[in-house]
Amino acid sequence: MLSACPTGLLLVIAFQLCQISAVYLPLREYAGATFFDGWDYWGNVDNTTWGNVTYLDQTLATEHRLAYVNAAGNAIVKVDNSTTIAAAPLVNRESIRLTTKDSYGVGTLWIIDAVHIPYGCSVWPAFWTLGVGKEWPNAGEIDIIEAINLMDNNQMALHSTKGCFQSPNPVQSGATLATDCSLDRGCIVAERKPNSFGAGFAQAGGGVFAVQMDITGVFMWFWPRQEVPDSIKTATSQSSLDIATFGVPSSAYPALGCNITEFFGPQQLVLLTTLCGVWAGTSRSFGATCSGRCVDQVIGPGTNFDTAYWEVPYIRTYIAEGLPRPELSSSTTPTPTDGGSPTSTTSASGTQITTPPGNVNTSAAGHVKDLGVVRVLVGITAVLCACGGQLLAMI
Ligand SMILES: *[C@@H]1O[C@H](CO)[C@@H](O)[C@H](O)[C@H]1NC(C)=O
Ligand SMILES: *[C@@H]1O[C@H](CO)[C@@H](O)[C@H](O)[C@H]1NC(C)=O
Ligand SMILES: *[C@@H]1O[C@H](CO)[C@@H](O)[C@H](O)[C@H]1NC(C)=O
Ligand SMILES: *[C@@H]1O[C@H](CO)[C@@H](O)[C@H](O)[C@H]1NC(C)=O
Ligand SMILES: *[C@@H]1O[C@H](CO)[C@@H](O)[C@H](O)[C@H]1NC(C)=O
Repeated sequence: MLSACPTGLLLVIAFQLCQISAVYLPLREYAGATFFDGWDYWGNVDNTTWGNVTYLDQTLATEHRLAYVNAAGNAIVKVDNSTTIAAAPLVNRESIRLTTKDSYGVGTLWIIDAVHIPYGCSVWPAFWTLGVGKEWPNAGEIDIIEAINLMDNNQMALHSTKGCFQSPNPVQSGATLATDCSLDRGCIVAERKPNSFGAGFAQAGGGVFAVQMDITGVFMWFWPRQEVPDSIKTATSQSSLDIATFGVPSSAYPALGCNITEFFGPQQLVLLTTLCGVWAGTSRSFGATCSGRCVDQVIGPGTNFDTAYWEVPYIRTYIAEGLPRPELSSSTTPTPTDGGSPTSTTSASGTQITTPPGNVNTSAAGHVKDLGVVRVLVGITAVLCACGGQLLAMI
């Protein structure tokens, strides 16, 4: 393995190149009183992962208080825990599935701060993204937060059509469980840092997850509360963000193994909690951390679901400095304070997207084409970083 990599001086250069600053400008923030403005509600049963839930529409979600902003100003997105459900041939408990109206393509960065992620036997939360405009998985899927039942660690993954892999020995802190992104489970990386899910996550005060969707790859970070980088801690909805100090990501999918622009279109963010279903509910998955039958948790009083809620201070989206800003669907777009690229603010109503706003992917490609040198440099950096990481891993 080592013989494939040049050593010594090259390693030093690698570490310097890996510190290249990458500045991102704010696109929009989902937070506080306006958190729910930028999303659509599913308003149907779980017809994709077959969990025992009914995802409410906006009216019922608000009325039943399953989607609201709490006294701390954080968004709460929860499973019903106040209804007693009788055993029946078909059991569904009320829950929420949200999809952003806007989509975000290559060249963007997404950050979610969470104080609490749903957990408990039968509970299957996910914060993930779905490529727009094509039948799944033709425009790709990125799983940022996803785990089930009483698991204590998060898993990240990509899903794609055939031909997209996680390249060998990526520089990441997580543990790769599968490398072919086109197979059932996707190319999964299990979190190795403590407190990434479950009671541990909540007790540690939650944490922050970040995703960089770049022409050089998809990179995802997790930091428990105590380890959130200062650049994120001090950021506001309007400040730009330099990701140079983010450190080694939890999962890395370099373009070496997967051509991101080919397999991933602009992505809509999805936040949901289902119960049981095709992962959490199988006897094998359920039995790994819980006992009995999954659906028996859903039946009865809702006390099993007191911990089945998201509490989210904010979700922020960014675009790489120098790329054109995509048009967004609503008027809550923050204006950068640092004199970055021109801001395109409002575009008509918040409910209708006339131009696909996530048209960022072609822009990103165009940007790099104009700067051919950058592309070469980025390629060299990727290889050097990979080699450096490999060396580090062996020390
Ligand atoms: C699943 O539900 C969604 C939301 O109601 C709907 O748009 C979609 O058509 C449904 N899919 C199928 C295959 O029924
Ligand atoms: C749980 O939901 C799934 C999907 O809708 C359904 O097939 C199954 O019958 C349900 N189980 C019960 C006991 O309601
Ligand atoms: C990646 O895919 C894009 C879009 O299909 C294509 O234009 C580009 O040439 C591909 N890059 C490589 C290195 O294959
Ligand atoms: C539902 O759970 C919340 C905590 O998430 C708790 O404050 C509330 O009392 C529970 N509701 C019922 C009816 O038990
Ligand atoms: C994304 O990029 C691909 C390849 O460059 C292009 O074919 C496609 O039209 C782009 N998608 C959008 C929504 O612009």
